[in-house]
Formats: sequence, C-alpha cells, structure tokens
Amino acid sequence: MRLDKCLSNSGHGSRSEVRHQIKKGLVSLQGRVITDPAYNVREQDFSQLTVAGKPAQIKLNVHLMMHKPPGLITAMEDKKLPTIAEIIPAKWLNSGLFPVGRLDRDTTGLLILTNDGILCHRLISPRWDIWKTYQVEIDGQVFSAADKTVFQDGIVLEDGLKCMPANLDILTANQANLSIQEGKFHQVKRMMQATGRRVTKLHRLSFGPLTLDEGLLPGDCRELTKREIEILYAAAQLEPKF
Ligand code: URA
Repeated sequence: MRLDKCLSNSGHGSRSEVRHQIKKGLVSLQGRVITDPAYNVREQDFSQLTVAGKPAQIKLNVHLMMHKPPGLITAMEDKKLPTIAEIIPAKWLNSGLFPVGRLDRDTTGLLILTNDGILCHRLISPRWDIWKTYQVEIDGQVFSAADKTVFQDGIVLEDGLKCMPANLDILTANQANLSIQEGKFHQVKRMMQATGRRVTKLHRLSFGPLTLDEGLLPGDCRELTKREIEILYAAAQLEPKF
C-alpha cells in the first residue's frame, strides 16, 4: 500500500499533510528515511514504520458506531447542508469512511460507518438478510393488532413497489418498533404513508446484530468493539477486518 495512504488512513493527517511529513524526512521504515509518498509499504512492515521517531501505529480498517442526531444529512460532504462528517472526530476523517446506508436528515439513532467497501455493500444489500429496527411514532390511522399481518404480508407502496415482509411490534396506538430487511428510499415513511399514517419521529435502534449503545449520546460516535466487528462481519458472511 502507498505510504501516504497508509498513514492518512491511520489518522496521521490528511493526504497532503502526510505527504508533507514524508517529504520533510519525518517518516522512516526500519530506521531508513523514506521521502517518496508513493513508496509501497508491505503489511508485514507496518510495525517498523515511525513518524517523527515514534511508532506509526498503522490501523487501516475503521468501523464506527454513531448516534446520529437530527439535522445532519447522511453524507461525508455536501455543498449546502451540514453532514455527519461534522461530528466524526478529526482522527478518523481521513480514513476513507462512508456511512452504511442512509438515515434521513430528521431521523436519529444508530448509524454504522466503515471504510471496508465490501462489508458496506453486503450490509445494505437485501440479499444478506440484515434486519434493521426502527422506533416509529406516527399520526393518522392508529395501530391495531391487525396491522401486524398487513406488514408481514408486505406493504405495497403508493408507487406500486412491494416491500419484503416486515415485523411490526405495536407499543401504543401511535408507536411501534418496525423491523425491515431492505432499505428503499424513505422506506419506513413510505410504508407508514401507504397505510394512512405520517411519521412524526423515527429512530433506528438496531442494524443487523448491533444495537445502539445506550451510553452514546446523540452526536457521539465510537469505534466498534472487537466483538461487534466479529458479529457484524459474520452477519455479512465475511472474515473480520480489524
Ligand atoms: N426509512 C425512512 O423513511 N427514513 C429513514 O431515515 C430510514 C428508514
């Protein structure tokens, strides 16, 4: 892997900051100064890299859990609107992270970010059976026991698209937990709309095997634990990358 990519992915600064450090002669491999940012570092040599005389601590794979607050769009950049990148700690901003699926601007709750493209792709594809659970509050038609079957049978959206079976756990007349296994655009809102309701609050509680850490306040994010990484990769039928 290119030396500059390796260092910037691992939190040593932006690609241009890292290139500057390399050209200044601050980066060494096995005691030998490397001044070429494109130098190809082998994985077995990562532990021998130093920056300004200190071990470089290379960590290429980053997986985060975020408690998304309302008001941010699920993108790493946008010309007009504030994005989730604003609440990602600076050390992870150059790691090539992207969000796993999208939550609407007003939706809150669990958002996973990773820089593993294959993992991301599998987690959002309906082929891998990754269920997501949302806490929904609605106005309009109140929930009744019969709705469970309606959602289980597959809601037909207003444009004629049929959804896969979903589980509706009714909490009160206007609150439920809804679990779905796909992620169509505005899916939960459109499912509610197709059944005579309007979503007034939407919060994601879980994504596949992961549930939102109750200790994470809105706007916080943290790295996934080793165990969480293992079960997330297992759900996507992949070998874990830590
Ligand atoms: N479904 C929606 O309608 N919005 C979200 O943010 C997530 C799922």
